[in-house]
Amino acid sequence: TVLVVDFGAQYAQLIARRVREARVYSEIVPSTMPVAEMLAKNPAAIILSGGPSSVYAEGAPSLDREIFEAGVPVFGMCYGFQLMATTLGGTVDDNGAREYGRTPLAVSKADSTLFAGTPAEQPVWMSHGDACSAAPEGFTVTASTDVVPVAAFENDEKKLYGVQYHPEVMHSTHGQQVLEHFLYRGAGLKPTWTTGNVIEEQVAAIREQVGDKRAICGLSGGVDSAVAAALVQKAIGSQLTCVYVDHGLMRKGETEQVEKDFVAATGANLKVVDASERFLKALAGVSDPEQKRKIIGREFIRVFEQAQLEILQEDGPEVAFLVQGTLYPDVVESGGGTGTANIKSHHNVGGLPDDIEFQLVEPLRQLFKDEVRAVGAELGLPDEIVQRQPFPGPGLGIRIVGDVTKERLDLLREADAIAREELTAAGLDREIWQCPVVLLADVRSVGVQGDGRTYGHPIVLRPVSSEDAMTADWTRMPYDVLAKISTRITNEVKDVNRVVLDVTSKPPGTIEWE
Ligand code: XMP
Repeated sequence: TVLVVDFGAQYAQLIARRVREARVYSEIVPSTMPVAEMLAKNPAAIILSGGPSSVYAEGAPSLDREIFEAGVPVFGMCYGFQLMATTLGGTVDDNGAREYGRTPLAVSKADSTLFAGTPAEQPVWMSHGDACSAAPEGFTVTASTDVVPVAAFENDEKKLYGVQYHPEVMHSTHGQQVLEHFLYRGAGLKPTWTTGNVIEEQVAAIREQVGDKRAICGLSGGVDSAVAAALVQKAIGSQLTCVYVDHGLMRKGETEQVEKDFVAATGANLKVVDASERFLKALAGVSDPEQKRKIIGREFIRVFEQAQLEILQEDGPEVAFLVQGTLYPDVVESGGGTGTANIKSHHNVGGLPDDIEFQLVEPLRQLFKDEVRAVGAELGLPDEIVQRQPFPGPGLGIRIVGDVTKERLDLLREADAIAREELTAAGLDREIWQCPVVLLADVRSVGVQGDGRTYGHPIVLRPVSSEDAMTADWTRMPYDVLAKISTRITNEVKDVNRVVLDVTSKPPGTIEWE
């Protein structure tokens, strides 16, 4: 394992992913973890991430010097680099040598461990106020920039390396190569971490954990729960029962996808609960978005719990485990403990009755989303499931502005299916993060169709581009694709006489309308 020490910037996750792209397993630990505890994990190497701008700032995180003396190879980046420098006796000062953004780096030691085989001058991404003016004793300076005399250094004997810039970001064009040099040449690691290994390891771990008991898993139709379930299914077969709650708010074909494709690919025991009537009833007359979300979340948990109880009452070994598709970013973020405002009350599959204790099986806890997709594909899940774009738990219920009725849902399902079909046909599925299709049920406008006046509803297209859904921009998609979608929706969907495009970024708009 390579430990990535997180100094509180947003870079640690990216570094961890880059290490894994180099086929080496990595984990993130907070910089507040005592060094002894880090070393007790027996890391094969340690990477110190970027972080706050000054090592001298009050309350700036630091590390016990022991981390550099334990014989474990260490790579410091940006803040990590400066921390390494100051801790080991080098000089870092606020001499006005600030650099932000793309900067040319001059490599001064062509055969150095990190830079071997990379160009003598290469663009790198900088973001720092202070600068290192003298490397610690025993270190060789390997690169500089116009304003920073010491932009990289290394001590091969002690296996300590550092760069002032951010090799993990795309703009540092040789960053991945430099990182791999650290891993393979500096730390002597081999690129052996693969999707196949992950599956093997997890299958063994799940068998060990579950033993001969039974487990249940809620399927939402999304990627994470499907892959988690497929992995557990591979491990324990018929000891797993999957529960899919059909709340009637899914898009066209999605329930069938779970019922047919998922079962075909995995052979899982699937219990489908058709609760659409119940959800419609609970949602009748409700148009407030938060109210809708609460109702859907509440009903969902009730139905799911009811299904759990039924399974608990079946003959067979004890049902002691609940499978969840928790991903690594959730683990890191909840461990990081940074409070974020509750903008919308998101709901996820789960919901444990107070008096029933399940142990959790979370086979994706170590994985990033792209790795989950790779595992899913390797397990034989179809692209329609594995490459699925994000879809909110409350489904189409929060894409109808106004109250939710069966007729409105059917209408929106048709419009959404047309939009998805055309976006796929135009090859835009990867470029577009997701494209909510929203029905403005409370709005009517006048139109003319087939020589007659119409008084129908508008449909909103909300195509967005994003990396993590925290921020997003509206996708500048081709006019002819928009035209085709508009023509088809207004022709084919009854009561819709207008299609409009949402050109708002997030912030200020959220991705969903409710
Ligand atoms: P917003 O609308 O907050 O959405 O910009 C950000 C991302 O989250 C999805 N979303 C949800 N996902 N349960 C979910 O599982 C929810 O309640 C929920 N609400 C929004 C949304 O589709 C987007 O990808």
